[in-house]
Amino acid sequence: MSAQLAPNPYTSLYAKGSPERGLHALGLREKRFPLSTESRDSVTARMWSDAKNLTWDARKDIPYHTFDRSKYSQEQLDAARLCWSRRAWTEYTGIVESPSMCIRLCLEGDQPIETKFLLASKVFEEARHCEASFLLADAMGGYIQEPPPHDAIVKLVVAGFRDRLAFNPNVSAEAGIAAWHIISEGIAVDIFNIRYQWTDEPVTREVIRLINQDEVRHVELGWAFLEERAPHMTRAQLDEVELAVRDVIENVEMKGFHSIFMLEDDVDSIMIEAEAIAAKARLGFCPPEAEHKAFVQCIQNCRARFAKIGIRIPLYPQIE
Ligand SMILES: [Fe+2]
Ligand SMILES: [Fe+2]
Repeated sequence: MSAQLAPNPYTSLYAKGSPERGLHALGLREKRFPLSTESRDSVTARMWSDAKNLTWDARKDIPYHTFDRSKYSQEQLDAARLCWSRRAWTEYTGIVESPSMCIRLCLEGDQPIETKFLLASKVFEEARHCEASFLLADAMGGYIQEPPPHDAIVKLVVAGFRDRLAFNPNVSAEAGIAAWHIISEGIAVDIFNIRYQWTDEPVTREVIRLINQDEVRHVELGWAFLEERAPHMTRAQLDEVELAVRDVIENVEMKGFHSIFMLEDDVDSIMIEAEAIAAKARLGFCPPEAEHKAFVQCIQNCRARFAKIGIRIPLYPQIE
């Protein structure tokens, strides 16, 4: 005699709304099996090993207490803590958005397992970048919880990669990763490199160094994934990557997402002035001309490397 199952009281709750819910309603489907675990390339395997070994604790490994406020004017400290608060908001965007790309790849069991592991660890890494940034802002006089009211920066700290790329079934995983990891994170890394060189305050330098140690891996992951996939892709699929890459260059990065000096001239933001002051004090930011040069160099390097796999980035005479 079979046992009678009691009716599930939650069924009506879950049955509400469209029969297609969650990611299915967006048009994304899960095909978990066969779940491949083979290591497909040595570069990604080495990166996964690095991600496990090059770990650091944003709270314990950085000597924030040695930051000497007496060396700076109140104006410099206020500017720097505002800019490092913005860094925390931007890194927080990484926590909110990054899991979506991990989910997107994990929906398909056949995607490279180490790429998925790296995307999983990336969420943890963005979290410690956020933590290091707000702890540094605290050391400079106090983390600020939100952008100044009505400041143009408000819409810039929300990138929208999740909806635009990862959870958009019309955008392939290759296109999403190329636009997000190679372009957006690539620009972040190159700008951080130039800021690191310019910065002379030891605690701030250490924060930048540790964050960039992780960020370099996020960019390499993008290239490794795309360059392994590209030889197997059709022209139409490469065109799709090209479109997504151009969208992020032209509508996210050239609009100031990572380099605030790219904000249009008529945009009202006190962040621009704050960053110029923090740059002059060498507290983790650098002069606009140096940052612009790093930005353009990054686009040019990407253009050359993309060209090798048949993806074209046009010239941008307005910035180059
Ligand atoms: Fe980050
Ligand atoms: Fe990152």
